[in-house]
Amino acid sequence: MKNIMIAPSILSADFAKMGAEIERMERAGADMIHCDVMDGMFVPNITFGPKMITDIRKHTSLPLDAHLMVTKPERYVEQFAKAGADYITVHYEASDATLDTLKKIRKLGKKSGLVINPDTAAEVVEDYLEYCDMILVMSVYPGFGGQKYISGSTEKIRKIAKMISERNLDVRLEIDGGITLENISEVLAAGADTIVAGSTVFNSPDPSRTIKLLKSGGVEL
Ligand code: DX5
Ligand code: ZN
Repeated sequence: MKNIMIAPSILSADFAKMGAEIERMERAGADMIHCDVMDGMFVPNITFGPKMITDIRKHTSLPLDAHLMVTKPERYVEQFAKAGADYITVHYEASDATLDTLKKIRKLGKKSGLVINPDTAAEVVEDYLEYCDMILVMSVYPGFGGQKYISGSTEKIRKIAKMISERNLDVRLEIDGGITLENISEVLAAGADTIVAGSTVFNSPDPSRTIKLLKSGGVEL
């Protein structure tokens, strides 16, 4: 079992105060910063590009997790690597060149991640597992924060956790979308070890307590 990492998603941050928001999350005990890159094409929303990663990099030593919701992400992985992302995660649905892109990310010295959308079967990751440092299961349709967790995602996590442990691979298993203090325990029990949380952490009056609670499965230790 891997250590549990909590990755606040800056989609829920105040973009006009990003440096301070990142520092606030680091002080609150975040393990990683999740950066949602959206191109207005793969998803119906637009956020930011590699310059945001470059600028964030100066405000934290935490690992940066670049979740590329971008059509043909192979066009951009080099720029995100140079900008200082630690994990670069690409969507299975976004390109025909996924395998080459995962290999390229590793060649650039970064951790490679593959993401699947809610309508994509867990089984598709099987062929890519050995080229991945992380698998990300979307538990909402990508594009916006604050949506409701899609309950079938728990079963997908369970299936992928099994694939990873059967093959004895060193792959993190991340979940993204609609994570709350109510559903965190089932997600952890299913085998997720990397938890993206946007609105739950950023809207909390006490992010430090919320992060601790997420890590412990929603109960006070
Ligand atoms: C959705 C993004 C998520 C989002 C999660 O497309 O990939 O990272 O910020 O936000 P919450 O935790 O509020 O569902
Ligand atoms: Zn995300």
